[in-house]
Amino acid sequence: MNSPFNHDKAPFGNSHGPMLTGVFAPVLSEECLTDLPVEGKIPNDLNGVYLRNGPNPRFKPKGSYHPFDGDGMIHSAHFENGKLTYRNKWIRTDGWLENDRQGQESHWGIMNSLKGRKDRPMADAANTDVIGHAGNAVATWYLAGKSYFLDPVTLDTIGSKDYSRSPGQGMSAHPKVDEVTGEMMFFDYFDYAPFMAYGVIDKEGKLIHHVPIVLPGNRLPHDMGITQNYSILHDLPVYHDEDALAAGRHKIRFNSSMNSRFGVIPRYGKSEEIKWFEFTPCFLYHVINCWEEGDEVVMTACRFMPTKDTNGEIDEIKTAKMIANLGMEARLWRYRMNVKSGECREECLNADYNCEFPSYDTQLTGMHSQYAYLVDHNPETLHWTGLRKFNTDTGESLGSWSDGPAHCWYSEPWFAPADNQASEDHGYVICFMWNDKLQIQELQIFDAQNISRGPVARVSLPHAIPVGFHACWMKPTQINIAK
Ligand SMILES: [Fe+2]
Repeated sequence: MNSPFNHDKAPFGNSHGPMLTGVFAPVLSEECLTDLPVEGKIPNDLNGVYLRNGPNPRFKPKGSYHPFDGDGMIHSAHFENGKLTYRNKWIRTDGWLENDRQGQESHWGIMNSLKGRKDRPMADAANTDVIGHAGNAVATWYLAGKSYFLDPVTLDTIGSKDYSRSPGQGMSAHPKVDEVTGEMMFFDYFDYAPFMAYGVIDKEGKLIHHVPIVLPGNRLPHDMGITQNYSILHDLPVYHDEDALAAGRHKIRFNSSMNSRFGVIPRYGKSEEIKWFEFTPCFLYHVINCWEEGDEVVMTACRFMPTKDTNGEIDEIKTAKMIANLGMEARLWRYRMNVKSGECREECLNADYNCEFPSYDTQLTGMHSQYAYLVDHNPETLHWTGLRKFNTDTGESLGSWSDGPAHCWYSEPWFAPADNQASEDHGYVICFMWNDKLQIQELQIFDAQNISRGPVARVSLPHAIPVGFHACWMKPTQINIAK
């Protein structure tokens, strides 16, 4: 092992809330490690890079801390011909560089400020999502901002782009890449009319389409979907409390009298071409995949289940608090929207498992996919307890694995196709796993066709990887586009 296990579990003390200590504690060094101990065997037909983004503040925060505040850090596992290299590196955002100059945190977090407050500036932490596009890993932030481009192998920040156009502020987390055309579709949202924008970036990184999307008010959407011909945008009954917004404070409301709406717009559609479909009120963090079946647009997703009171009615306050605290009660769900007839319907695909952080074979983004790989969740402890594979056509759970749901934490997994992929699930599922009881950190590799067998390889890492957000997989052909 290249360095001793020396991860301080409360580097900034205990006064900034629970999301900076223990399993959430940031790492304060950047590493490039090879020849790590392996139990089992790293498959020879596994080539590419697993990238995972997450908050990792470098300096002691100002005031109370929320995970969307911390400087984005990428942890990666780069596989080449049976060899593995682990790296971690901060994204050199404008905020990180300013802090570097000052030698301290110079920004306020979302619990203490709002975007646009001059007296309490916020930083675009780029800490939420990462996706491969045009040869780069593209890091983005939940509240929308710049796109930061990273070398997917070295993790060096090689540039950034501000895709904001009027109206708008940039790009939200969760853009989607069509791996056939190379285009990246994205949305942007902001707290003034028209409240949303939608855009398309071509395979070389040039913005080729950008239109305003009119919503009835400020909203806090989180994800979107694409098919081969359409993009699906979200208008959910979750928004900034208007009074708090006017006072420059952050407070989320959930309104159970409003329906959820999904807007289907042709990939290069004008604003007025969007067709809205109404469904039962909910929040929704993550789409799994979308595709077309005849005139229907199908969206599979993890529907956030609103909290109910003892009478079975939605408790708006508890639901809003759960969303604000990143609690999760999600079920596998399918939405169908007929763009010709306007008919729509929704159905729960599996009511038994509280799962989120979905992944699948992104070569099929926008096309039908059958398999998805998610993480089981315990909402009481915010605990990501194990992996689970689903058949998203039937909702059937096809197997799961955990080293110990009471004390093991799993990162968002991602599916990595085998070199000579012969079927949709021919490949591997990659994730990080922290065992809090044994105090060990592993990178785990599963056979995607048999998750329940447990990892085919466990790689020991010398420091804990803090609980984070999203991950992606980039194939060698995606990594080498611009090299
Ligand atoms: Fe997300």
